[in-house]
Amino acid sequence: MRPSVLATRATFPDIAARLRAHFDVEDNPADTVWTPAELIRRLQGKQGVMSTGSERIDAALLDACPQLKAVCNVGVGYNNVDVAACTARGVLVTNTPDVLTETTADFGFALMMATARRITESERFLRHGEWTKTGIYDMFVGGDVHGATLGILGMGRIGRAVARRGAMGFGMRVIYHNRSQLAAEAEAECGARYVDKATLLKEADHLVLVLPYSPQSHHAIGAAELAQMKPTATLTNIARGGIVDDAALAQALRAGTIAAAGLDVFEGEPALHPDLLAVPNIVLTPHIGSASVQTRRAMAALTIDNLIAALGFGPRAGKPPTPVNPEVLALAR
Ligand code: DGY
Repeated sequence: MRPSVLATRATFPDIAARLRAHFDVEDNPADTVWTPAELIRRLQGKQGVMSTGSERIDAALLDACPQLKAVCNVGVGYNNVDVAACTARGVLVTNTPDVLTETTADFGFALMMATARRITESERFLRHGEWTKTGIYDMFVGGDVHGATLGILGMGRIGRAVARRGAMGFGMRVIYHNRSQLAAEAEAECGARYVDKATLLKEADHLVLVLPYSPQSHHAIGAAELAQMKPTATLTNIARGGIVDDAALAQALRAGTIAAAGLDVFEGEPALHPDLLAVPNIVLTPHIGSASVQTRRAMAALTIDNLIAALGFGPRAGKPPTPVNPEVLALAR
């Protein structure tokens, strides 16, 4: 009997077709977001799942789906998956690193620039017919990006790609803070200097968050951290909702504690904290950091490579390209 797999969300049909060569596939062309109970119901009898950040894969789900062998998540982040619970049950988890690094860094830079130069705020003004005279000397004046200090919190692949853009493209002084300092060669390659978190907050003109979400990074930026930043500084979050305390940020933007913010991710998304919608000095986008056609196709293809290999098929049978918990593979040998 062929194994069965579930694709929880709609994806590129030509790429997903590769799954059908090996598996019986249940997919979701209507792109409905299923409740946890519905997800468990649909996973009955399935050995693999192509999941996204919208689905929580936790111990309760794993216990209700004991035949599940592989959770292949579309995305580099996998905080929707309880990896320890998967590992304890011999379930392999995979993600999609590397293929989205440059695209997400492009987006982070674009969001930071839009925030610094007040692009969406001024567009709203124009669209609402409020531009009635030219030559106003301080109309939508923002902060410079070139030559400013770029601060990066979290220095993985995407952080380094953002740093390179700042140092090499815009002549920025780049400082970063991370759980561990990069090797000297890696620092030189991306033109960044390690500092402690307090220095990062104090000195950054534009602070970009690129760290993974975990209980340790929950509200890494809250009222106390915002208070340490310059009143002219901007904050950009392309990492995960929950790293910033959204209520505290809205309050800081209202009070002028910092100048502006750009957010692509939110606590409890797709719901937004209502106070964020009430402040003008913020650029808001709906979690589209990796959303270029080429990159989204590459993410889908890598997830499918992982799923095919994880369930023992294809040229890499048993050796999926990007495992999160490879120890499960070692145990299976
Ligand atoms: C990622 O790859 O983690 C993106 O945020 C998409 O979820």
